[in-house]
Amino acid sequence: KDKSSVTITVVGASGDLAKKKIFPALFALYYEDCLPEHFTIFGYARSKMTDAELRDMVSKTLTCRIDKRANCGEKMEQFLKRCFYHSGQYDSEANFAELDKKLKEHEAGTIANRLFYLSIPPNIFINAVKSASISASSANGWTRVIVEKPFGRDSESSAALTTALKQYLEEDQIFRIDHYLGKELVENLSVLRFSNLIFEPLWSRQFIRNVQLIFSEDFGTEGRGGYFDNYGIVRDIMQNHLLQILALFAMETPVSLDAEDIRNEKVKVLRSMRPIQLDDVVIGQYKSHTRGGVNYPAYTDDKTVPHNSLTPTFAAAALFIDNARWDGVPFLMKAGKALHDRRTEIRVQFRHVPGNLYKRNFGTNLDHETNELVIRVQPDEAIYLKINNKVPGLGMRLDRSNLNLLYSTRYSGEIPDAYERLLLDAVEGERRLFIRSDELDAAWSLFTPVLKDLEDKKTVPEYYPYGSRGPVGAHYLAAKYKVRWGDFAGDQ
Ligand code: BG6
Repeated sequence: KDKSSVTITVVGASGDLAKKKIFPALFALYYEDCLPEHFTIFGYARSKMTDAELRDMVSKTLTCRIDKRANCGEKMEQFLKRCFYHSGQYDSEANFAELDKKLKEHEAGTIANRLFYLSIPPNIFINAVKSASISASSANGWTRVIVEKPFGRDSESSAALTTALKQYLEEDQIFRIDHYLGKELVENLSVLRFSNLIFEPLWSRQFIRNVQLIFSEDFGTEGRGGYFDNYGIVRDIMQNHLLQILALFAMETPVSLDAEDIRNEKVKVLRSMRPIQLDDVVIGQYKSHTRGGVNYPAYTDDKTVPHNSLTPTFAAAALFIDNARWDGVPFLMKAGKALHDRRTEIRVQFRHVPGNLYKRNFGTNLDHETNELVIRVQPDEAIYLKINNKVPGLGMRLDRSNLNLLYSTRYSGEIPDAYERLLLDAVEGERRLFIRSDELDAAWSLFTPVLKDLEDKKTVPEYYPYGSRGPVGAHYLAAKYKVRWGDFAGDQ
């Protein structure tokens, strides 16, 4: 019989993230029998609530996935019975000591492992960590803390945050989440590269002309303006989500799949990157737009955003890795809110076929018709490769077709949410998908100077209509490196 127990305390239990992601992910893990035999979930927040009220709140967030069987309702009941609530201040050692007492009752003499998920605003991070670690650390098992971004807003504030965290926690107790690392296709990047013969030999400046990392959302900052205005899209998406994908894409082969080996390679590639130049960055902000009789708001229409805010809701940037593998290859990033569609993808554009016979004989304009590998992270997860192909028939005509691995056709069952993977890893102590301090430092070193430049110079963003394809400036930036954005090719 298992003599250990795990308690997961969601600090900030009534917040948005907890309701939208954390509780549903915990239930999904429970449903799949992935949680340990003795586990308890505690919600912790300031508002007064009874256990029953918490259960009621949580139950409203839970769903049974389409492919789930009839006993889902029953499982939900069982799951809810394991959920409890404690109300307290985030900076109160006394309140966390009360929590500690309750946790002990549930742990009932087992080896008590405790996971704290801090789903709270950054200004109360440190005090919560302090109080929780002083008053509610486990006496005989492990204590781990999951933290969510923002991890500071530049190198300096991020380093200060790390120093403060390390007053109370060891590096191996800190689990910094970047939920993009928990996404199925991001995890698959390494599998694709390192367990197929055909990709890795092409994975360098010799064959790859440019790499594009594209993030777009078809909604604005609705309701999150207060947080967003202090950060902007570069900090919200590029410095973390897109840069993490880039690091996994471009790193050298790790010694093993061990967390430290992988993270060592990621740090190495991040540290090989050239500081981003101001003229390699384009920023934009969405303005209001009326379409089909519907009026879509401007970013600055949000009541929590200053009316003269220059905060970018769109950015495009060209990045370079100064190492032997990637010398001279542009890595183009683009991230924006309130654009015409929602997607995240990695596009790898390969070089021309030297002396292409078909170009010579048939005058086909194959200059732009290079191979392109697309890894679509979301929605409609897919991996496809664009190839030139003969159109069947007696003539000789080429077209571009896709070798297509569409997940929904190939695999049945739903893809787990990123938070499920990450929570499970944190419970199991698997650190591969969490951000180490030195990785975070390297990521900030890359972006801090250019962010400071943009802010010091009060660079005015290029305005783009809500629901459009974003500022034209992004095209000029790509053109500067003789690149076209792949998502504009028409045959997406
Ligand atoms: C978050 C950002 O990290 O990621 C949000 O703060 C963004 O602004 C979100 O909307 C996107 O995540 P996902 O998983 O919905 O693509």
